[in-house]
Amino acid sequence: MGTETESMRGNIVLSGFMGCGKSTIGRRLAAALGMKFVDMDRYIEEKAGLKVREIFEQYGEAHFRALETETVRALAAGEDCVVATGGGTLMRPENVEAFHAGGGTIYFLDVPLAALQERLKNDKRRPLLQVPDRRAVIERLLNERRPQYLKSADVVVDAGAPTVVVVRRLCALRGVELPKRTAPPQQSGPEKEKRRRKRRRRKRPAPPQENS
Ligand code: S3P
Repeated sequence: MGTETESMRGNIVLSGFMGCGKSTIGRRLAAALGMKFVDMDRYIEEKAGLKVREIFEQYGEAHFRALETETVRALAAGEDCVVATGGGTLMRPENVEAFHAGGGTIYFLDVPLAALQERLKNDKRRPLLQVPDRRAVIERLLNERRPQYLKSADVVVDAGAPTVVVVRRLCALRGVELPKRTAPPQQSGPEKEKRRRKRRRRKRPAPPQENS
């Protein structure tokens, strides 16, 4: 677990498009920095007793956006934590202002369009993506939103890399060096041979059954 410097106070706010890794990266980053982690979608779901999809279906998107703003205000005023925003949260300038006013730093996790389309191709959870022309919707929304992600961000992070790499980058930006993971010990000769034989045995087809 690392120790941040004094100047690194305030919420760490992760922003970016759906599928950019805000939740996975946020959880790992919080663990590495010894901070609390809040996923805004899960927080809203717990408070409302409904899934995000159900909130959209039963009350509409505008209601969900109002719940987001309420949540941003509460988080900005609370104890420092790593916050995974929803992909649409920072489209509202008042949400950006509230995070900044609370001393938070906004990190935009920038992932290329093609990678987002691939990561989101089987999604069943996000209401905005339950459409027949999903790839086109992702492209349109990203083009609309990217300028605002860039404008609201204090730091833009290239987040197309594997999670562990992005977490390491974010830690470094907070002045914390994560220890490099040591390589697993090499298997010795006889051990290696034993495993190879076992694998071969598993692959061998079963002998034909005799008819009785
Ligand atoms: C949304 C993104 C979702 C969730 C809701 C709306 C958006 O969060 O808040 O479905 O408008 O981009 P994730 O970015 O965590 O998927």
